[in-house]
Amino acid sequence: MSIENTLAIVKPDAVAAGSTGKIIDMIESNGFEIVALKKAHLTEAQAKGFYAVHSERPFFSSLISFMTSGPVVLMTLRGENAIVRWRDLMGPTDATQAGPDTVRGRFGTDIEKNASHGSDAVETAAVETSHFFSCFERIG
Ligand code: RTP
Ligand code: MG
Repeated sequence: MSIENTLAIVKPDAVAAGSTGKIIDMIESNGFEIVALKKAHLTEAQAKGFYAVHSERPFFSSLISFMTSGPVVLMTLRGENAIVRWRDLMGPTDATQAGPDTVRGRFGTDIEKNASHGSDAVETAAVETSHFFSCFERIG
């Protein structure tokens, strides 16, 4: 067990649907500490940079259109095993396969419009959190 930071994003579909507060409630009810938080409308360059690992995938251009379609809410979450625990709370990528108690099951629509993002490893969490938040924007 170790204390980790992870990047969470409330994606444009969930922000537009007015689900941000309910997702934050799930985050806090499940024992995560929110150590940084802000709203942003990602530029195409920011979205492409963030999802660069998927640049060769057939869904890349659709993903970039989606992620730049409206504002997102960015958060750094902290807690015991935060990376895996946040991904478990989100549920699988395809929202149609996600359970009713997960963020994607409650607020997602399909494999693309799935309401939330979570870092997938310690290394990517470090890159992603520092990509969006400076040390001055993070508590502790
Ligand atoms: P994320 O990075 O956003 O937390 O999602 P993930 O790890 O569960 O899934 P990943 O494979 O990293 O995919 C990133 C995002 O791309 C969109 N996607 N669309 N149309 C498709 O087949 C497809 N597959 C993935 C989703 O928005 C997914 O979260
Ligand atoms: Mg991913």
